[in-house]
Order: sequence, then C-alpha cells, then structure tokens
Amino acid sequence: MTKARILVTRAVFPDVIERLEQYFEVESNQDDRILPASELAEKVKGKGGIFTTPSERITADMLAANPSLKAVCNMAVGFNNIDVDAATKAGIMVTNTPDVLNETTADFAWALLLATARRVTESEHWLRAGKWNKWRFDTFLGADVHGSTLGIIGMGRIGQAIARRSMGFDMKVIYHNRSRVAPELEARANNARYVGKEELLKTADHVMLALPYSPQVHHIIGAVELAMMKPTATLVNIARGGIVDDAALIVALRANRLAAAGLDVFENEPAFDPAFLSLSNVVLTPHIASASEPTRRAMANCAADNLIAALTGGNPPNILNPGVIKG
Ligand code: DGY
Repeated sequence: MTKARILVTRAVFPDVIERLEQYFEVESNQDDRILPASELAEKVKGKGGIFTTPSERITADMLAANPSLKAVCNMAVGFNNIDVDAATKAGIMVTNTPDVLNETTADFAWALLLATARRVTESEHWLRAGKWNKWRFDTFLGADVHGSTLGIIGMGRIGQAIARRSMGFDMKVIYHNRSRVAPELEARANNARYVGKEELLKTADHVMLALPYSPQVHHIIGAVELAMMKPTATLVNIARGGIVDDAALIVALRANRLAAAGLDVFENEPAFDPAFLSLSNVVLTPHIASASEPTRRAMANCAADNLIAALTGGNPPNILNPGVIKG
C-alpha cells in the first residue's frame, strides 16, 4: 500500500519524524528554514496531511487549493495560525495539542510573574554590568507577590493551573472569562472569584493573560485598560501576541503607568517592537512558556498522534472541527 504524503513544516524531534515515517512518506524541514508563504503553499500540494507549528499561517487559499489535504495538525494548543472555518468548509480536519502543556505553561507564567514583580532580570543585568558596589536599602525594590491579589484573564485549563499555584503564596484570585467556570473548578483554583474585566484590572496587583487569541479579543488590553491598572501592578502575557496592544503597553511602561510587564508573546513575533528593548521594567522571553523538554516532546507526539489517526481512518483525539469526520 502506498503511504500518504505529509509535510512537517518546521524542525521537530528526530524520533518524532521517525515515528511519522513508519506511516507516511514524510517531507520534513529539519533545517528549520522559515518557508515563505508561496514556498509553503507549493510544498503543501499533493500532501494528505501537514504537521504545523504556530509560526505558519495556514490560509483559506492554501486549504482550498489542496483537495488532497485531509488534516492540519498543529503542534500547539493555540490555533489562530490556521483558518479553521475554511478548513471545515473544505472538509479538512484541524487538531491542536491541549492539556499536555497546561502545567509547564503555568509554571512559566509564575516564573515571569516572580521575575517581573521582584525585578530579577533587571537586577541581574545591572549586576553583570559591574554596577553593584554597595548594599542599599532601596536597591531594586519590587512588589510583593505573596498575599497580593492575582487577576487572571482567561480561566481555561492553563488559567486554572496558574490559579492553583497561587495557594502557596496566600493570594486572592479574581478572574475574568467569557463565562463563569463551574463552582468546583473555581474552588480548586484557589476559590477564584469571577469579576468583570474592569473590576479585575482596577483591583488586581498582578494581572496574567491566559486566554486564547481570536479576533474578538484583539487588543482587549489597550491604552484604556492599562490606565485602569494600579501603577504598582504588573502584567504577564503567556497567551498570544495581539491580545495586548504592544504600542500602548510600551507607552504605559515608559511612563511608569504600571510597574512592569513579563512578556513571552508579542505582536508580529519574532519581529517584536524593538522599543521593548529600551525599557528596563520588562522581562522578555521568546515564546517559550511550554518549552520544557518533556512538554515539547509531549506536544510533538500529540500532534503526531493526531496526524496518524486522521490519515489512517481513526478519530484524531484533539480534533477542533469534529463535524468534518463523516460516518
Ligand atoms: C501553544 O501551544 O499555543 C504555545 O503558545 C506554543 O508554544
């Protein structure tokens, strides 16, 4: 039997490629070249499935131009890089990798919160620059994390994992979400209390963004929202670029209208706004919240499981548009 042809759009763990090769004729990109859209579209031609990452845009045109394509399997929980509606219209399955990254991503949100509130990277840069020559009572005064109020926007599985960790810090948790989560989940999430977005922004000492991107939440944190936050507050974004208006955030940070921000995601990343680099009150990381070795492996294998199921007549465990599976 001839094997289905698939494309792996970016470099991935070699053993995952080997696993895929047991089922498919694999065209991979282990050199990790960023494929221009036209080249990507060309490579998708004739493929039965594609293994994608958040950096490739899978557009309606690309999907419509490839009648042989049956599945697009993203190695990420977020899937705003894929036009899922167009895929559904074209009968193409789309999958993501939920759950396997919840705890690792929540750990990293905390790493950013602690580094941001307690000025860890800023003070380390200062020390490395040879500027430490005496102890002073006010060297790098930061904000307390313990005992403070944590505001989480987006109370899905990652938001809940972030909230659970706050118990050890004796924090109060307030959250905002499209809708209130079940009372038993709120209880597990350190008795998180559902509030409106405005109340959250005005009340929280630390705000964390953990919601998926969609056009409806584009720039939901902009100049107006940043002005509502306490001047001593911090903002952490481990969600997606585009949720925060980066230009407005830069203005607010420069004017110290909020204390600091910890950012793992940016608009137009990796070509993020260079003005961030001129600010000392930001902690900047290159979209690595899920990047522990076991979790990135789990994500890659989860995407592979989905692709194998999709192209061998099974039901992909993480299908986002189940309506396309017939029978
Ligand atoms: C995700 O899974 O959406 C992450 O942002 C990718 O690391």
